[in-house]
Amino acid sequence: MKKVNCTIDKENKIAEIDERIYGSFIEHLGRAVYGGIYEPSHPKADELGFRRDVIDLVKELHVPIIRYPGGNFVSGYNWEDGVGPRKKRKRKLELAWRAIETNQVGINEFMEWSKRVNTEVMMAVNLGTRGVDQARNLVEYCNHPKGSYYSDLRIEHGYKKPYKVKTWCLGNEMDGPWQIGHKTAEEYGRLACETAKVMKWVDPTIELVVCGSSHKLMDTYPKWESTVLEHTYENVDYISLHNYYGNLENDTPNYLAKSLDMDAFIKSVIATCDYIKAKKRSKKSINLSFDEWNVWFHSREQDKEIEPWSVAPSQLEDVYNMEDALLVGSLLITLLKNANRVKIACLAQLVNVIAPIMTENGGRAWRQTIFYPYMHASIYGRGYVLNPLIKSPKYDSKDYTDVPVLDSVAVVNEEKDEMTIFAINKDMKDILDIHCDIRGFIDCKLIEHIVLQNDDVKVTNSKDHPLRVVPQFKNDVVIEEGYLKTLLPKLSWNVIRLSINK
Ligand code: AHR
Repeated sequence: MKKVNCTIDKENKIAEIDERIYGSFIEHLGRAVYGGIYEPSHPKADELGFRRDVIDLVKELHVPIIRYPGGNFVSGYNWEDGVGPRKKRKRKLELAWRAIETNQVGINEFMEWSKRVNTEVMMAVNLGTRGVDQARNLVEYCNHPKGSYYSDLRIEHGYKKPYKVKTWCLGNEMDGPWQIGHKTAEEYGRLACETAKVMKWVDPTIELVVCGSSHKLMDTYPKWESTVLEHTYENVDYISLHNYYGNLENDTPNYLAKSLDMDAFIKSVIATCDYIKAKKRSKKSINLSFDEWNVWFHSREQDKEIEPWSVAPSQLEDVYNMEDALLVGSLLITLLKNANRVKIACLAQLVNVIAPIMTENGGRAWRQTIFYPYMHASIYGRGYVLNPLIKSPKYDSKDYTDVPVLDSVAVVNEEKDEMTIFAINKDMKDILDIHCDIRGFIDCKLIEHIVLQNDDVKVTNSKDHPLRVVPQFKNDVVIEEGYLKTLLPKLSWNVIRLSINK
């Protein structure tokens, strides 16, 4: 057993949390849309063809915003192909993922689905094969009330009310050579600036995310960010970050330390934004949209075998285990610790494709292990974040030194008079004996202590065994004279919910 002392001080506030930090992502990729959210022949399909079982699972996650329609897909997408009478919609070669796109789901169907799951949509425009013209037309189609060609076209298509989509992405991963219409930072910076300007002329209330690097190991990072911001600084609101993590080397301690990598990435993008701010003598700060993050490595080999040009092939179907859930929890804690600048973040993705929710065609839907930390953070992580002072034991791994075994953050929800402590024990062997000073909070009472743990870190959920990894309730927290005492099992995700009296 290892002892850890910590203090949660209510003055040690990081920031109010923008709820969009619990966003997610649906791309026209694999079985995310077709066979995931939409399957008209499924026994549980609703009148529009959306799977009700999937809607129910998405609603459990309380996802505030979903990025759509891509991803790499958007860089070859003509949004007009997905609107109007379905019978007339074109089947097209989808070059990003080498599949057939039937266009049976498009902007209007997705907006309908988003209402069913109570979420906002973060819409991406195509800056790969297209540009200013199609982007401004799409804003007009979605957001203009009526009396113009594209707003009237939306009404003619049966959607009277404008969608008022607030958050928009200026393309996707434009720094990557794999991107359709890949550009240099100069080329993209100019195009993004002009597109942003005109989109905001159509609707001045929108907010825009400009593309940062596709990941931290890109050769062009962070020069890409600085050049792109030189061009776009006054016209955009956020810059994007993308990063996926994996455990190819099967080294659990090193894998669980990768949240430090995310933290360093965030800090260096903030530094780059602030450098351009200083250079431009600007009053405005650019915030961060970490709009693709997750674990992605399990399916990479099997995806190489997929034959091209089929409809909705099983692509990027990572099956997640217990250690993946721990890393996802640690990444969520890292996003929360940076909530002063990270205002949007999207777990990529939501259904079937590197996702917390899986389905079988015509059959069941189930929760993967990573579903739980994401759900807990999304439900109980609303309010403002406090940075606990932790004296944690540390370990060294292959790529990291001084990795704290206890990773934790606290969130206060004043509307509900609640404080939630999220905590991960990354120790491979030992229980952590926690002594936490919470004297600043009068009359704290335990609501519940939820634990996700399994001695086998490789255990997964599946359609036949959907409940192998599920949260348990371990209500052994003691609160005495302003100190919270509890034990955190080895390799566990913990959610300690307290009622507080302000
Ligand atoms: O989320 C899967 C893919 O990962 C996205 O399409 C792309 O943006 C990223 O490379």
